[in-house]
Amino acid sequence: MRFYITTPIYYINAAPHLGHAYTTLVADAVARAHRLSGHDVFFLTGTDEHGQKVERAAQKAGMPTKLFADQTSQAFRTAFADLNVSNDDFIRTTEPRHFRAAQELWRRVRDNGYIYKGQYEGWYCTVDEIFVPETQLVDGRCPTCGNKVEKIAEESYFFRLSAFEERLRELYASRPDFVTPAVRRNEIVSFLEGGLQDLSVSRTSFTWGIPVPDDPAHVMYVWFDALTNYMTAVGYGDADASAAGRFSHYWPADVHLIGKEIVRQHAIYWPAFLMAADLPLPGQLVSHGWWLMEGAKMSKSVGNVVRPKDYVDRFGLDAFRYFVMREMIFGQDADFTDEAFLGRYNADLANDLGNLASRATTMIHRYCGGVVPAPDAVLLVREPEADLRERTGVAIAAVKARTVEFQLSLALREIWDVVSATNRYIVTREPWALAKDPAKRAELDTALYTALDALRVVAELLRPFMPDAAERILAMVGVRPDSGAWGALAAGDLAPGTRLGETIQLFPRIDQTVEELRRLAAGEPAAPPTPASSTTSTKEKRVTELPQNVPPAAPAAGSSSAATPAPAAADTRLSIDEFMKVDLRVARVLTAERVPNSKKLMKLTIDLGTEQRTIVAGIAEAYEADALVGRTVGIVANLKPAKLMGIESNGMILAASSADGKPMLISFDGTPEPGTRIR
Ligand code: MSP
Repeated sequence: MRFYITTPIYYINAAPHLGHAYTTLVADAVARAHRLSGHDVFFLTGTDEHGQKVERAAQKAGMPTKLFADQTSQAFRTAFADLNVSNDDFIRTTEPRHFRAAQELWRRVRDNGYIYKGQYEGWYCTVDEIFVPETQLVDGRCPTCGNKVEKIAEESYFFRLSAFEERLRELYASRPDFVTPAVRRNEIVSFLEGGLQDLSVSRTSFTWGIPVPDDPAHVMYVWFDALTNYMTAVGYGDADASAAGRFSHYWPADVHLIGKEIVRQHAIYWPAFLMAADLPLPGQLVSHGWWLMEGAKMSKSVGNVVRPKDYVDRFGLDAFRYFVMREMIFGQDADFTDEAFLGRYNADLANDLGNLASRATTMIHRYCGGVVPAPDAVLLVREPEADLRERTGVAIAAVKARTVEFQLSLALREIWDVVSATNRYIVTREPWALAKDPAKRAELDTALYTALDALRVVAELLRPFMPDAAERILAMVGVRPDSGAWGALAAGDLAPGTRLGETIQLFPRIDQTVEELRRLAAGEPAAPPTPASSTTSTKEKRVTELPQNVPPAAPAAGSSSAATPAPAAADTRLSIDEFMKVDLRVARVLTAERVPNSKKLMKLTIDLGTEQRTIVAGIAEAYEADALVGRTVGIVANLKPAKLMGIESNGMILAASSADGKPMLISFDGTPEPGTRIR
């Protein structure tokens, strides 16, 4: 199957922000899903570079317009590459191939009798590049973006849009899914009911555009120029025979993915232009909602934009990709908040997915020498095993379906259902308990196999959304990523005997609060990085830039900061940042044995969630070794190693001492997971 998907081409007067990133990431995930299903995919994005707005922005920057366009277009190209976007082409409307295509379309429409010359007088919004009828002005401003409109009166070519009223109505009656979601389609249908007026499609008051064929005093209206990009990229207007072949192979596009504010141009103008040129219409216009910041659309003119880089630097690229695709219910608007970001990072990524990946693989290293064990065929059909396998199989079908319908948030929810079910399965089966009894070897192998197989499916399903993290998980499982993996993806297919790769920690928990992160971003001293064994780039980096949407918080009362001068005399109190340097963690005791020839010392192996360590503690007079195994303790995790009776100790157990010097281990109100930070 062939699948051609486009994003809007972005105006280059603003630097790329979350809104642009979101559309492009959604298209990226859907394109990747189709590729994984073995389809022939063409994924296009690019920049929309003509029009008065760009000409003015270049003048303001004191640069030649072409140079300005080159630089700002490059910023989009780089931003998308940094987001690991897998576009097959990046189109610029200033490229010669696009001039040829737009002029070719113009000629065909004109020769078919749908373009005529006249005089245009009316209001124009340069920000949105739209003509605004006087009746639609809101206090003299554009109804879409709220910016001032300008009066224009000039000779202009007109496109006979009114001639297509009936055919457009028929289009919407015969193809109810042409525009989705339905709410946008209904808007278009009611707009059509109001009747269509001819559209001014050329300007003479500036020159930064594509010259109208045979009348170069006019440049094309930017939307006529811009919409054509979708055909340019697949060879329209190129005289070369192979280009003609490409065009007939890829055109019409299957999906134009757009934001909700540009539906009208895509749903009325574009089909009408194509009808006027006797060209086939695209398959579907899929529109999404807006990212809002405290209820207002995020946009450069309001100045309330989120820069993806700030979040990618702090939390990692795949965390950013996950958040935007999970948080926005496709089609609706969504508010971007740091609290939601941090919450999802810690709950969904660090706890649920990160723990599953490290638990499921670590146990196979520990109990099976790092090789996938063969499950027992009889044990595999018991309820929890069969349930998990069935649930995983159902999720495979659901994730595939939801993804190609653009319901990415729902697709991710399906994947997380499997993650949670697998985590619960591990708790039910307690492999660590099975491992203590050699008679339960088959049960242990079956449990470890079942959990790892579910993790493998989770990783395969995550590939369109979090390509890098997904491949890292597959490497941990020992499976090579196959480019067409979704075609035959099924639960229970993991091959016993597969050698696992190294277990790494993907999403180290971030223990700072949003307030602390804001202070760090504002340049105050950083707390120590999150867990020491992390391999992601986020751990080494301090946030160096303030995320745009979070003003630095006022210093907390009593904390030392620039705004609260420190007392002059020796003040031995610690600042919060000094305290945070001590890495206190929850750990679980795995083994305990007295150190020979020592009355006090006990040698413990502890599980720190991501690693195991040896700690030598002076508690042997107060505790029996057996009573310690399985106990949850608190430790200092970042002490330099020390040798006690020849054994290297890596950490210190937290305990109080009674009046007679007897140690008393601290305990918790509940059972926190190993590795949890204590503050
Ligand atoms: N150049 C036109 C599109 C021409 S397509 C032939 C244009 N460009 S734009 O730079 O303004 O980008 C608009 C697109 O960016 C929106 O349709 C949407 O995809 C994305 N977003 C910009 N701001 C957004 C939000 N705040 N939220 C979500 N996406 C938004 O219009």
